[in-house]
Amino acid sequence: MERVKNNFDRSLEDVGNVQLLEHVNLTVPDQSVAGMFYVTGLGFTRDPYIEFGTLNMWINLGEQQFHMPTNEAQVLRGHIAVVVPDLDDLGARLKFAARGLGDTAFKSIESDNCLDLTCPFGNHIKAFAPASFPDIDLGMPYVQFDVPPNTSAGIARFYTQVLGCPCQHDNDTTRVAMGHNQHLIFKETDAPLAAYDGHHIAIYVADFSGPHGWLSQRGLISEESDQFQYRFVDIVDPDSGEVLYQVEHEVRALSHAMYRRPLVNRNPSTNFFTYRKGNEQFSPAPR
Ligand SMILES: [Fe+2]
Repeated sequence: MERVKNNFDRSLEDVGNVQLLEHVNLTVPDQSVAGMFYVTGLGFTRDPYIEFGTLNMWINLGEQQFHMPTNEAQVLRGHIAVVVPDLDDLGARLKFAARGLGDTAFKSIESDNCLDLTCPFGNHIKAFAPASFPDIDLGMPYVQFDVPPNTSAGIARFYTQVLGCPCQHDNDTTRVAMGHNQHLIFKETDAPLAAYDGHHIAIYVADFSGPHGWLSQRGLISEESDQFQYRFVDIVDPDSGEVLYQVEHEVRALSHAMYRRPLVNRNPSTNFFTYRKGNEQFSPAPR
């Protein structure tokens, strides 16, 4: 048979073991202040089905979530990127929400291509327009962790060899692919880092038992949660066993009941004044 001409780089669509970076869990001291920033300001949607009370809040943004149980504030050492449908609309909402955030750490600074935000409890969030991340109209394209000097190469080895993720490592930075449109980024810094305070991320993996076996053999599983989930905290250099960084990973199988459950997302530009029937729900732009 005659060979068919291929004009496409098929490797660009390859996905590694992690299928989805689903949520970041950060405890917050005040649910109403959290709501003012994440719902009123950022325009995200409170999950109407789970943790809808006064002790916790799950916040939907596209296919991702923030989980925010009540406790002393946890602060991620780095920043979380979010994509919102429109940065001008976001600016207007934050201006309104700022009225209720006066005595908090909240800040909003216009940067080149994003709004550089500090949440009321000190977490750093960069908000981008969809043009910056063509595969996401609303969601969390990456989480960036600040890491100590000389750790990013070992971190790349960990995610490649243990988690089975495609990684790019350049100088002081490692980018770890999470599914087809998300990344974890580890960037070295000389600045002093706060002690790890227990915040966590949740990922869904195709090969669930492989990483578990490797971590378990070395005593690195921190929680055997249930049949469909385990946790680990230490990111180690597989060559030396040295602990390079700590952040808890909630690792879930694709058979976990919550894998890609439909998340309710409202249209953040809908309000009392702009309301039109049928325009309540967020609709992703066609590709
Ligand atoms: Fe979680």
